Amino acid sequence: MKSNELRQIFFEFFRSKGHIIVPSAPMVVKNDPTLMFTNAGMNQFKDIFLGNHNATVNRVANSQKCLRVSGKHNDLEEVGHDTYHHTMFEMLGNWSFGDYFKKEAIEWAWELLTERLKIPEDRLYATIFEGNTEENVPKDDEALMYWRECFDNPGDRIIEGSKKDNFWEMGDTGPCGPCSEIHIDIREDSERSRLPGRELINKGHPQVIELWNLVFIQYNRKNDGVLEPLPSKHVDTGMGFERLCMVLQGKKSNYDTDIFQDIITEISRITGKPYGKTEKWDTALRVISDHLRAVSFSIADGQIPSNNKAGYVIRRILRRAVRYGYTGLEMEEPFIFRLVPALARTMGSQYPELVAREDYISKIIFEEEQSFLKTLGKGLRMMEKMISDLRKENRNVLPGRAAFEMYDTFGFPVDLTQLILRENDMHLDITGFESEMQLQKSRSREDA
Ligand code: SER
Repeated sequence: MKSNELRQIFFEFFRSKGHIIVPSAPMVVKNDPTLMFTNAGMNQFKDIFLGNHNATVNRVANSQKCLRVSGKHNDLEEVGHDTYHHTMFEMLGNWSFGDYFKKEAIEWAWELLTERLKIPEDRLYATIFEGNTEENVPKDDEALMYWRECFDNPGDRIIEGSKKDNFWEMGDTGPCGPCSEIHIDIREDSERSRLPGRELINKGHPQVIELWNLVFIQYNRKNDGVLEPLPSKHVDTGMGFERLCMVLQGKKSNYDTDIFQDIITEISRITGKPYGKTEKWDTALRVISDHLRAVSFSIADGQIPSNNKAGYVIRRILRRAVRYGYTGLEMEEPFIFRLVPALARTMGSQYPELVAREDYISKIIFEEEQSFLKTLGKGLRMMEKMISDLRKENRNVLPGRAAFEMYDTFGFPVDLTQLILRENDMHLDITGFESEMQLQKSRSREDA
């Protein structure tokens, strides 16, 4: 089943349960000081949950473009090194605004997965919140009761989880509540019989993963950390679309689904480096296919790379892609901009903004690639030399001044210096770097 078809099945299912299908909100957030990017499907509904706005309809569903690269939810460094982390991803969600609650949320999730999509029950697990006395939130016996009605063998299949995994919060403040997650075990049968999937839930196993999070929004986390009950109870669910595609397309990696393969094939065509040959190429191909999406969608939503805030986050993502292209695929000329048409072909039917702004997105990416490549080659060679010098001297801390010179003279970003050091089990003397920065600031004030 193709990804575009799967998205439609999700919409149709929830339409049949009385939901209105609404468009994704922009991925770039312009009017919320606590958030730069949409990091969850519920962001656009925050004010409804808090009771500041009345909902015009009380059941909606959609596919939301999300980006998790800053703040509480940040996956950037993981991306490319495993099969299931992404910067930008789509979250399929259904919402109840003060309407249905745990019973329907659980029953419908179960019906969609096991009846409509025919995922075998013996691959699924559900987690529920074990409760927390400090927060004064009880164990979620209600969710437990409904899950018991779903599974044939609930004793094995329902797991209690702590606040870390089963109490969902958007950020430091805002709407939140206990959650119940559906996990799936897609390992081979032989492995499954050796070790039950329940032992691997929330342990970072790439084939025993969370698929859908059902959040029961009941509280507002205030600035002082106190949980205040909300006037009404709401449902906020989020299912990782790329993961669902992986499961239904019988793959073991999100990057093997058509969502990514269409783009990876295009990168391979341009670079002459096929997927599945060497780990070095594969990591670079995954990084670039992921980052292309994040950067293109951000530009389509009006956020271009720049030197501050959201623009800087986008710049860092794009530069990370350029760096992996350079070191992993030997691409010393701009090429990422040439991938935008393939992305627009794959995702444009759901997100027409990609098609409408295709040329503009390509142009911005081209300019950014071109200017960064100038500094990258030189900077990387200098880094290599500094790292080997440190190694010879048995040291693992790069002096702040060296990093500052790289930044000041060549425009080599300090976060990239730090990243490369980390990859080599080294780190930067950040205090030294900051005092060099301060010194330079006072020098320029004196000069002015
Ligand atoms: N808000 C929850 C999440 O982002 C479910 O949508 O995981």
